[in-house]
Amino acid sequence: MDSSAAALIFCSLICLGTTQAPVVSVEPRTATVLQGESVSYSCQVKSTVQPVQLEWRKGNNQALPDNVKVGRDGSVLTIANVRPGNHGQYRCVAISAAGRSFANAVLNVKFPPKVKLTPAGPLQITTGDPVTVECSATGRPRPTLTWKRRGSTLQLVSQEINDVKIIKWPSTRPEDSGVYVCQAVNVLGESEAAVEITVVGPPGAPVASVNPGEMTVIEGQTVTMECKATGSPPPVITWSKLRAPLPWKHTVADGVLTLNGVGRQDSGQYICNATNINGYSEAYTDMEVETPPYATCLPDQVRLQPGNSLIIQCLAHGSHPIQFTWSRVGRGNLPAGAETTKDGKLIIASVKLSDSGTYKCVATNHIGSSEASAKIIIKA
Ligand SMILES: *[C@@H]1O[C@H](CO)[C@@H](O)[C@H](O)[C@H]1NC(C)=O
Repeated sequence: MDSSAAALIFCSLICLGTTQAPVVSVEPRTATVLQGESVSYSCQVKSTVQPVQLEWRKGNNQALPDNVKVGRDGSVLTIANVRPGNHGQYRCVAISAAGRSFANAVLNVKFPPKVKLTPAGPLQITTGDPVTVECSATGRPRPTLTWKRRGSTLQLVSQEINDVKIIKWPSTRPEDSGVYVCQAVNVLGESEAAVEITVVGPPGAPVASVNPGEMTVIEGQTVTMECKATGSPPPVITWSKLRAPLPWKHTVADGVLTLNGVGRQDSGQYICNATNINGYSEAYTDMEVETPPYATCLPDQVRLQPGNSLIIQCLAHGSHPIQFTWSRVGRGNLPAGAETTKDGKLIIASVKLSDSGTYKCVATNHIGSSEASAKIIIKA
């Protein structure tokens, strides 16, 4: 005899005819749906005492939202066009003359993020004043938040407190002016919002800007960068290079920096600094120097016997990507059995007397090309 049967016998002896409250269960017990979808729960009841009345509640005892409908006999709860606010617990309550009981079901609603910035901006800040912008987002699963400056792919340093992502400047500078974007991402989508911050100097403080803001040039070219600055008295402009001295072949005149015959090592960030008695302002530009390939063969001469294997590596310096093409001087096509690899190798597994000759490698990138050759001598 199990315990419920024992309880039933016990109760029928002691309770003198009273019976048990209904037994309720809800199916499914948990459902996860996307915003806009629909979901139904059914409430099943076993009861020795009839009639049984069914009621549904949200949470512990809240009324049902207006998009939630209960079927005529009360057993099926349907939520059409689910919204984020429908997330939570639903309860089916069964009531009979013998008592009441309930069962719970959970609804998880997933929805794409939506970001909000506080303050929304645009913001006008006086140089030296602090500024803080908070980014928060709705969405489930909980979105991840990142701050970036428009025009840059770098993530900004930010603080996260209670799911709010905060960027702050304890003391703003004119060059902090810009558009800052907060992006929220979860598996269902992304959302972003931008705030424009303009930092205005005290009267007369310099504000510098550099033109162009970013450039890619080819080795050997002459490059000019112009720095303009407002301010009173007229600021003094100085140029420097981040973490390196300026290239020695440079001149500065009227705020214009000229670099003659740039090389790869001149790539980097250049900084213009405009200074007067009221303060200073820095502006930056990035320059990238690209170079055509310069090819060499390693080794550039080999002596082999028939049946030996051959590997020649074509090496190239220059901006990537670089492509390699091998050919045979005077004949064009490579001998049958020769293989080449993407990284510039020429391979012949077993050389023949007729493979003797000069082989040429051409290395090409989007700027130019360079060739190198290797002499292969095969003697029995
Ligand atoms: C710009 O000038 C100011 C004032 O002379 C100085 O404090 C600051 O370090 C300079 N910045 C750079 C990048 O040289």
